[in-house]
Amino acid sequence: MPGQKTPIITIDGPAGAGKSTVAKRLAEKLDLSYLDTGAMYRALTLKAIRQDVDLENEEALVRLARRTTIDLEYDASVLKVFLDEEDVSEAIRSVDVTNKTFYVARAPRVRQIMAEWQRAIAKRKGVVVEGRDIGTVVFPQATWKFYLDADVQERCRRRIEELREKGNNVNADRLAAELKERDRQDQTRSAGPLKKAEDAVLIDATQLSVDEVVEEMLKYIKNHCRLN
Ligand code: DC
Repeated sequence: MPGQKTPIITIDGPAGAGKSTVAKRLAEKLDLSYLDTGAMYRALTLKAIRQDVDLENEEALVRLARRTTIDLEYDASVLKVFLDEEDVSEAIRSVDVTNKTFYVARAPRVRQIMAEWQRAIAKRKGVVVEGRDIGTVVFPQATWKFYLDADVQERCRRRIEELREKGNNVNADRLAAELKERDRQDQTRSAGPLKKAEDAVLIDATQLSVDEVVEEMLKYIKNHCRLN
């Protein structure tokens, strides 16, 4: 790893662009930790659903966040997510949680709490962090920033393949509509909207394999060694 002892590499971008796979691979190559911030929003949403908290009530969501602990453990390429010590790694990927996370993610004060947690986690070790507002809001001073994008049709195709591999039946039209709706929600919220940081490197993954994306990132990192 050239330069810093605890580097922070941010990868932002829309749903389905391949951020998780790329971020994990990059973390392995550089011997860094990996932080999936979407998993944190999902975990809090799961708790809100279970406790019947009004998702439209920001104050209630803030109170909920304050009495919640979310821990992420990343080991041997497997991410485990703990909500108040319960392993919720599977539960947070349900369609219901996926579609409702938008309520939690649009609440500015919840985002502030999440950002504090994310900064505290990143202090411990160098990390590759993926999300939507990581290079813009959470770590504006990150060592290296990437914005990973891909055509919506390609993102949709990949998601369908992924779900089919897991044995899920997929309605392609509905999935495309949901993906576009998530793009819209992510890009238009007033707090921490999805957008490329000015100093982030844009990578269009539409025509690239995971390995090619990771190679491109590694090449950039090598050529932009930060010595501080
Ligand atoms: O990356 P993902 O699909 O697991 O993210 C789940 C949701 O959380 C998605 O609706 C966007 C939101 N999110 C966010 O608002 N900010 C982040 N830094 C990460 C995710």
